[in-house]
Amino acid sequence: MFPSEVTLVEVGPRDGLQNEAQPVATADKVELIVRLQQAGCREIEATSFVSPKWVPQMADNAAVMAAIPRQAGVRYSVLVPNMKGLEAALAAPRAQWPQEVVVFGAASEAFSQKNINCSIEESIERFRPVAAAAHAAGLKVRGAISCALGCPYQGEVPLDEVERVVRLMHAIGVDHVGVADTIGTGTPRRVQAVLERALKHYPLAEVSGHFHDTYGQALANIHASLALGVHVFDTSIAGLGGCPYAKGATGNVATEDVVYMLQGMGIATGHDQAALVDAGAYISRVLGRPPASRAARALLGRREQVAA
Ligand code: HMG
Ligand code: MG
Repeated sequence: MFPSEVTLVEVGPRDGLQNEAQPVATADKVELIVRLQQAGCREIEATSFVSPKWVPQMADNAAVMAAIPRQAGVRYSVLVPNMKGLEAALAAPRAQWPQEVVVFGAASEAFSQKNINCSIEESIERFRPVAAAAHAAGLKVRGAISCALGCPYQGEVPLDEVERVVRLMHAIGVDHVGVADTIGTGTPRRVQAVLERALKHYPLAEVSGHFHDTYGQALANIHASLALGVHVFDTSIAGLGGCPYAKGATGNVATEDVVYMLQGMGIATGHDQAALVDAGAYISRVLGRPPASRAARALLGRREQVAA
């Protein structure tokens, strides 16, 4: 039985933009978030409080959080790799805080070192006080597990390794885990096997999928996840995205494509597809290239035909 409703966490403003080489103006990031809100996005990963030396594109994190016109019913999240990141996110007035913070670890030692400059064990020790302090501040804590379906440095990642990190995150009080296919190599049965390991430690509502679409498998992987009852997914407007420490990986699965599939399956997400396509077209214009979303390109093409 497929779920009747799905929650999409819009990661375009963070995962989508972090990898862009050209600087994107803060005002454009905020305008994107406004348009996403108008298109029905209710969970938005807005930015990350990471080192600006590592990811310069996210250096305006506080300015973005300060400028978003908050909309009732929308929850905002930000990535924080350590206490310094959490403290920076909470240095603003409370009205500018996120509702959720994301600690991001990896199921692969090699990727952990490249992405956050520490081992898996060390990352968990960094996350422990972050989780405690975020909870004390009333925030939810999500844990992203990169390379759960393959690593750009190490190749295959054993299921036991993924489950070990799920268990470690659970032990430090992380409320929700996201299984991330950082390089998009995962295929449906493997995705199910990984999710089943996560579901041994977390309830259905607290396990999500984050699928990059490098090998064109992301929609199939979401379909396979739905078949297990998983109903929370990260998606990115216009299919933007990538990690600076996973070269060659393409963007996340496009929000427009996922909404198209789910609407066709009669599964509600609360999105307005036409407004989403507009939001994707907006940020694509800013970046100077067409949206990667196949559904968006088809729908924009149809609009042009009707207008002609
Ligand atoms: P480090 O160099 O080991 O950290 O970096 P450090 O504690 O030794 O500090 C070094 C310098 O960074 C110091 O500054 C700190 O103050 C500063 P200096 O004294 O040299 O001037 N610093 C910070 N500045 C701002 N905010 C902070 C912060 N922390 C330290 N939070 C660190 C360790 C984790 C900070 C670094 O490796 C980093 O920022 N990495 C981020 C990498 C990243 O953002 N990757 C992309 C996001 S993850 C992703 O995309 C995957 C995901 O989508 C899921 C998937 O697809 O797999 C989530
Ligand atoms: Mg990602």
